[in-house]
Amino acid sequence: MNIRDLLNHRVREAMTAAGIPAECQPMVAPSKNPQFGDYQANGAMGAAKAMKTNPRELAAKIIEQLDLEGIASSTEIAGPGFINISLDNGWLADQVTQLEQQRLGIEAADQPQTVVIDYSAPNLAKEMHVGHLRSTIIGDALARVLEAQGHKIIRQNHVGDWGTQFGMLITHLQDQQELDDGVALADLEAFYRAAKVRFDDEPEFAARARDNVVKLQAGEESALAMWRKFIAISVAHSEEIYSKLNVTLKHSDIHAESAYNDALPGIIETLQQQKLAVEDQGAQVVFLDELADKEGNPLPMIVQKSGGGYLYATTDLAAVQYRCQELQADRVLYFIDARQSLHMKQVFAVGRKAGFATEHCSLEHHPFGTMMGEDGKPFKTRSGGTVKLGELLDEAVVRAAQLLKDKDSDLSADEQADAARKIGIGAVKYADLAKTRTNDYIFSWDSMLSFEGNTAPYLQYAYTRIQSIFRKAGISPEQLEAPLQLVEPQEKALAMKLLQFGEVVDQVARDAYPHQLCNYLYELASLFMKFYEACPMLRSDIATETRDSRLRLSHSTAQVLQSGLELLGIEVMERM
Ligand code: ARG
Repeated sequence: MNIRDLLNHRVREAMTAAGIPAECQPMVAPSKNPQFGDYQANGAMGAAKAMKTNPRELAAKIIEQLDLEGIASSTEIAGPGFINISLDNGWLADQVTQLEQQRLGIEAADQPQTVVIDYSAPNLAKEMHVGHLRSTIIGDALARVLEAQGHKIIRQNHVGDWGTQFGMLITHLQDQQELDDGVALADLEAFYRAAKVRFDDEPEFAARARDNVVKLQAGEESALAMWRKFIAISVAHSEEIYSKLNVTLKHSDIHAESAYNDALPGIIETLQQQKLAVEDQGAQVVFLDELADKEGNPLPMIVQKSGGGYLYATTDLAAVQYRCQELQADRVLYFIDARQSLHMKQVFAVGRKAGFATEHCSLEHHPFGTMMGEDGKPFKTRSGGTVKLGELLDEAVVRAAQLLKDKDSDLSADEQADAARKIGIGAVKYADLAKTRTNDYIFSWDSMLSFEGNTAPYLQYAYTRIQSIFRKAGISPEQLEAPLQLVEPQEKALAMKLLQFGEVVDQVARDAYPHQLCNYLYELASLFMKFYEACPMLRSDIATETRDSRLRLSHSTAQVLQSGLELLGIEVMERM
């Protein structure tokens, strides 16, 4: 049940009955201020303009036809022609009571789509660093949200496992054969640096590295075996991080760049046949009129180098083809840094022109900004190096454990360790997900680990508080007898918010902005805290009916908080 859809539908019916053309929208939205009712329908103004009549009179006609029997307690015209709708408390209480049976309001898509989600996608030559956090967790949140709506999700971890740098890496690995591979690659970052130094300083090494690139490209077995060894260890590093991060990416979701190698000659052939690719200084280049620079000159996209080598863009064209034709995607979502926006535009435009993309398939780049340090510059270690993601996550857990110690909680050592992990990881993820994804944001331990404000610990705390009320009451939600009744304004406000969960989930599924869900959960938890202050539950003077009713409302809040956090990939705990 989605209140907004329901009201939109009813108001639109009334508009039809009042003779208003079908293209005029009812424009129903929650009211910003309870003074103007709970919801507002603002469509009368637009309709009056289109019909050249008086908006207030038109609003009155709509209200005359509007059937909200049992749903609204009043409908009023305000200002130039707003229709203010106040919902009926009894109806609201019934809807909240039904939430649990109705998947908390998350509607199942009537036409489930096949959605491919391209996310995380680290370059396997190096270790995952903070730059990979955003793609990994935003993409994962979208996978969870769309899956919850019943869509078929195909996760695609487009890892970078091919290119000339692997020649240098396997050559260095070959030279370390006295070491166990796991030991040699324990620190991928250091390994990469050492290989690079040798490549730059030792001509003999560089020659062997180049030779290995040729061998890899020719599919020579010994070079491939060494490469596979390297890739397997690097992938294991990433998977360790995925497990720390509680993301849903599995090993089988890896569809690496190299998986497209065999398709690349065909991509070039098609582009040539269609006269899209032309030779330019020995290279194969596509010039796109629709993507031009400021002077109107078409921007080139190189798809094959003069030596015959393929590029990142060529692989992405093959990926478009695979996802649209083989996987039959209805939507492909790419969670990639905003700095690759032009690249994605080119890939999509060429992919469409060349027919690699199916017509109905929606190709969507959902870009994101950069994580900054508190100095406002891209987040780096004190010595200016890249921050390893694994180390950052470990630090988050250590900091959260310290917070719990300072809080002097009575958790057992195991419970404390579990809570520290959930709070620390949750804080890092939430701080990122709660920011409008397209902006850069500043990474701050203090604000993300605060128990106040729009943070994971605040939401997790709200959840544990509700659990502790039930523990204190010595009662479980199933044992509650009296029905839910909405009496106090704080109760009504909380109920209404609970009923908006499905709307928000739907919005995130469409627009891929998880901060909308974060904002919603924060508002929900804040309304709960207000309700909690105003509406005592366990005081001796509170009647059992009132207590049960309020406990029901609290339980629904806990369920929505838990479910919402789970969609963001964040865990809750029973106590903290
Ligand atoms: N490996 C790339 C990078 O680190 C990201 C790949 C994103 N996905 C894609 N289909 N291009 O920049």
